[in-house]
Amino acid sequence: MAQREHWGSRIGLILAMAGNAVGLGNFLRFPTQAAQNGGGVFMIPYMISLLLIAIPLMWVEWGIGRYGGVRGHGTTPAIFGLLWRNPLARYIGVLGLFVPFVVACYYVYIESWTLGYALFALFGKLPQVAAESAGSSEAYLKPFKDFLLQYTGMGTQPFYHPSLAAYFFFLVTMFLNYLILVRGISGGIEKFAKLAMPILFGLAIILMMRVITLETPYGSAVQGLNFLWEPKWHELGNPKVWLAAAGQVFFTLSLGFGAIITYASYLKRNDDLTLSALTASSLNEFAEVVLGGSIAIPAAAAFFGVAAAQIIAASGAFNLAFVSLPAIFANLPAGHLLGFFWFILLFFAGITSSVAITQPVIAFLEDEFGLSRKKAVTLTMLILFALAHLPILLPKALDEMDFWAGTFLVVVFALCEVVIFFWAFDPSAAWREINRGGFIKLPRIFFFIMRYVTPFFLALIMGWWFFQELPGYLRETSPTIWITRGALVAIFLALCGLVYLSGKKEKAHER
Ligand code: ALA
Repeated sequence: MAQREHWGSRIGLILAMAGNAVGLGNFLRFPTQAAQNGGGVFMIPYMISLLLIAIPLMWVEWGIGRYGGVRGHGTTPAIFGLLWRNPLARYIGVLGLFVPFVVACYYVYIESWTLGYALFALFGKLPQVAAESAGSSEAYLKPFKDFLLQYTGMGTQPFYHPSLAAYFFFLVTMFLNYLILVRGISGGIEKFAKLAMPILFGLAIILMMRVITLETPYGSAVQGLNFLWEPKWHELGNPKVWLAAAGQVFFTLSLGFGAIITYASYLKRNDDLTLSALTASSLNEFAEVVLGGSIAIPAAAAFFGVAAAQIIAASGAFNLAFVSLPAIFANLPAGHLLGFFWFILLFFAGITSSVAITQPVIAFLEDEFGLSRKKAVTLTMLILFALAHLPILLPKALDEMDFWAGTFLVVVFALCEVVIFFWAFDPSAAWREINRGGFIKLPRIFFFIMRYVTPFFLALIMGWWFFQELPGYLRETSPTIWITRGALVAIFLALCGLVYLSGKKEKAHER
C-alpha cells in the first residue's frame, strides 16, 4: 500500500480544519438564521446543540478519521466496514462521499460569485447609487438586485442564463480549487490554509471594526446588534428554532459531511486529537458568533434602519451578501476597497471549505482504487464540473440539493457515525481511540454524552425532519426538481457501484 500523506505541522492542521469549517455558512447563513429565528433566543438552542451534539461529534469524527487513516483509509465506506463487520456498513458509508460531493456541486458555484464580485467591487464595476436613497431600502437596493439577477441569470425560465462573467469566474474558481487539491494535503491544502486563514480573520476584524461604528440618520450598527441579540423568549418553545439552530451548528462546523473524517485521516497514530479538534471548533465559533454576527446585519441596520434590516435578513443570505452589503459599501469612503475586502473574505472562507468537501471523493479514489493524486483530482473535478451545471442552469436545483445533502442527510449521516463508533464498534475502544495522544484528557461525562445523549438528540432531530419537513419538500414538484432528484439518485447509485467494486478489489487483494 502506498504511503498515505500526513499534515506537516500542528498549526497547519488546525488552520486547515478551521478552514474546512469556516465558510460561507459563518458570514451568510449564521446571521440570516439568527435574525429569522428569534435573535438572542436562537443562541440558547445553538449553544446546547454545540455542547451536546457538535463538540462530541467533532471528537467522534476526528477519532473515526484517524482510526481509518492509520489503516490506510480516509473515507467512510471503508472505515465503517472496519468498524462494523456488516455488509451494510460500507453502503451507509457512501453518505460520507455523497453528502460532501453534492454540497460541493453548488458550493463552488456560489463561491465563484464572491470572486467575481470581489473584482467588480475593486474595479468599481458594481452599480453606483446616490446616498439620498438610503433609508428607502427598496429603491436603494434595486440596482444591486438587478445586477445579481443579471449576473446569475436566475430570473429566466425554463433554464437560467448565467452571464459570461459568472461562467468565467466559475471556471476560474474550479481551476483554483484544482490547483490547491492537486498539490496534496500538506503541499496544497495546508499551505493554502496557512496563508488564507490569517488573511480571512484579519479582513473580518477590519470589516467588523468599520461596521460597528456605523451610524446614519436611519439607524446604527448598535441597533442592529440589539436586533440580532435581543432575546425574543416566546420563540424558545418553537421547535423550528431548535431545528434551525442544530442545522446551523452542523453546517458551520461541516459535521456529518465526511470532510472532517477525511482530513483527520491524515493524522498520525498518536497525534493529539482532543485539543486540536476543540481549537479548530473554537476558531470557527469565533468567526461565526463574533465576526459573522457583527458585519452583515449591523451594517444593514445602520444604513436602512432596523425594520428594513429585518426584511432583508428574512429575504435570505444571498440578498444580504450580494445585494445589501455591496450597496452599503458603495456609499462609504473607500467603499471599493471595503467591498473587495468583504467578497475576498467570503472567497477565502469558501475556498478553504470547498477543497475540504471535494477531498473525500479524491481520497476514496486514491485509497480504494490506487489512483495517483493527479488522476484522482482530475477525475473528481471533471465530474464536479459537469454536475455543477445542475444549480447553474436548473431553477430550484440549488435548493433541492441543499435540502437533501446539506440539511437532511448530514443529520442522518451524523447519527450513523456515532452509532457505528459507539455502539456497533466497541464503545471503550472508541473512547480510547479518541483520547490517545490527547493534549487534554476528555472528562468521562463525554463518554456518556457520545454514547447516549448525542445519538438521542440526533434521532430526535431526524424524526422531526422526517415527519415535519420531508412531506412538505416531497410535495414540491416541477420538472426541474425531478431532474435534480433523478441526478441525485444517479450519483448515489454510482457511488454505491464504486464502493461495491472497491470491496471486490479488496477481497481479491486479501486472497
Ligand atoms: N462549514 C462550511 C461553511 O460554513 C461548509 O460554509
